[in-house]
Order: sequence, then C-alpha cells, then structure tokens
Amino acid sequence: MRLKKLKIGRTELPGNLLLAPMADVTNLAFRLLCRRYGADLTYTEMINADALLNENRKSFIKGLSSPDDRPFGVQLVGSCPEKLREAALFVEEEFKPEVIDVNVGCPSRCIIGAGCGSALLNSPELVHTIISELTGTLKTPVSAKIRLLGREEKTLEIARRIEEAGASALTVHGRTAAQMYSGNSDLMSIKAVKNELSIPVIANGDIRNEESAERTLELTGCDGLMIGRAAMGNPFIFKRIRHYLETGEKLEVDKQSRQLEDFDAYVSLLEEHNLISSINLRMHAHWFTKGLRGSRQVREKLNGLKDGKAITELIRSSCQEQY
Ligand SMILES: Cc1cc2nc3c(=O)[nH]c(=O)nc-3n(C[C@H](O)[C@H](O)[C@H](O)COP(=O)(O)O)c2cc1C
Repeated sequence: MRLKKLKIGRTELPGNLLLAPMADVTNLAFRLLCRRYGADLTYTEMINADALLNENRKSFIKGLSSPDDRPFGVQLVGSCPEKLREAALFVEEEFKPEVIDVNVGCPSRCIIGAGCGSALLNSPELVHTIISELTGTLKTPVSAKIRLLGREEKTLEIARRIEEAGASALTVHGRTAAQMYSGNSDLMSIKAVKNELSIPVIANGDIRNEESAERTLELTGCDGLMIGRAAMGNPFIFKRIRHYLETGEKLEVDKQSRQLEDFDAYVSLLEEHNLISSINLRMHAHWFTKGLRGSRQVREKLNGLKDGKAITELIRSSCQEQY
C-alpha cells in the first residue's frame, strides 16, 4: 500500500518507518527490539554535545550501538557550531552511525534555557551555520528534527535553511514548542514543509496505530513516518503498522502476552548489553505493563522495588503466570 523505500544520504532503507529519538527510552536494547519488529531506522536519544566532549560517561553510553543495530542515527543537542562539529566528529569516529541528527525541537525548559533544541527555531541563520559546519566536515549524512513555528512562513524558512545547508533529511513534529504535547499534530503544516523541500521529509506526531499512520502518509505526502510515544512499552507497533501499510490488513494481536513477552525480551537485551544499571527499569516496566490485565497489582509491587534484579524477577514471574 503505502510502505515506500526511503533514502537518507547513501543509506537506502527497505521501508520508511523510523523510531523517534526519545530521552531515557531509545537505548540500544529498546532500539534492537523495535528493529526486530520492523523499524527501518532508529535514533538514539539526544546526546548533549558539551557533555560528550567532556567525556561524560552517561552521554557516551547513549551513543553505544552494536553490529545488529544498523542502520541507526545519533542525535546531538547543542547550540555552538564548533562544539557540535567536534562532538559530531567524535560520534562519527566512535559510533559510526548512518546519520547524525541535530535536535532543533526539544521544548524542555532546561534545553531551551541553554539556547538549544526549539530555542534554535528562532535563529534560522545559526541553524544554517550549525548544519553547514556538520555537512562540510562529516562523511556521515546529517539530518535535523524540528517543531513548527507559530507562523507557517517561519517554519518554511527554517526548513529551507536546513536543506540549503546540505541536510539529507528533515523530520517535522507537527506542534509548536509552546504546545509541548497539547492539541494535535498539524498534518497540513507538515505537508507544507514537504511541498517546500526536495530532501526527504519525515512526518512525526500522534502516529498511534494503523489508521493514523496511513492518514499521516496520505495527508502529508511525506517520505517517512517517525513513531515516538506509541512505541514506548509497545515496540510491536512497528510490525502492526508495517503489515497494514503493506497489505491493508490488520494483524490480530494478543496484547497481554505480546507486551509481557516483549518486556522479557527487552530485559534480556538490556542484560546482554550491560545496560540494566544505566536505565530506570521500573519506569520501563510501567510502560510495558500499561493497560494489561493485572497490571495494577504488578505496578503496585513494582513501586516498592528499586533493585533491577528484583524488578526483572517480578515481571518474569508475572509473565509466566499470564501465559
Ligand atoms: C519521553 C520522551 C523523550 C523524548 N526525547 C526526545 C529527544 O531526545 N530528541 C527529540 O528530538 N525528541 C524527543 N522527544 C520527542 C519525540 O521524538 C517526538 O517528536 C514526539 O514524542 C512526538 O511524536 P509521537 O507523537 O509519536 O510521540 C521525546 C518525547 C518523549 C515522549
């Protein structure tokens, strides 16, 4: 139906479903799980350029990948072109991603306060300089992710400046920074950006199921879809959407066993990659058990637990009971 190939720089993806960068969510284990279910490209969470250059261990872990985590993108957040260039060179050398993305949309107060994320939306020239620095220096293709501005011509201006600076793709979340997550993602504004540019444009915002995926592709005419919140605790969404776009039919899913089984697989991947201690496993367990039968009791028990091993055992034993 509407599943198309997507080319970002030299990388030709078999489809056009992307996992959004999400802080504290899209670690290596989670990305691997989404990939198993058909995500064509996954992004790390945003990595602060300054922290990476200061050899901050937590920031380094965010960029870690593995041979089966391909193709993947690393997202950087920062505002100083020279520091971003230096950090991107480090990322290119150390993690060797297929694409390096610049965060031009994060609305959180501490990021804006540092002049980064969506604060950059008000400085198209600075964004142009940042992207030009990266495309002029790196061998790796560069992408950017923006939110909308209050006036459409302003959104189009920043999108054009990003393309002119040599970016290989642009993702647009159809909300302004002031909206945070309120209202709906504005598909017509995303479409306006798509019509303005020649590089691939990826639509983002509120893709929750088969219908919203199809609608977003149809209404925006975009080259790809990026899925964020709907994948949290539910990586299987990629398989559902992929199947629907390919065949027009919906997969029958037993949500209960699927999500519990996926949590089990997730924990195994976290263990395999030594990531248990670097994430808040309790939070992830909450997402994976959301809306399931008996999840309230599991959650209540989870609240009293701090230790990763105990959480894993609780969920594993709950999984076995439910099967
Ligand atoms: C927990 C969380 C963390 C996020 N972290 C990032 C991030 O690191 N970089 C980024 O560009 N966007 C980040 N976002 C925004 C998402 O990438 C995405 O643009 C947004 O959630 C809208 O898409 P959705 O409706 O599919 O969730 C984050 C969103 C959430 C919910």
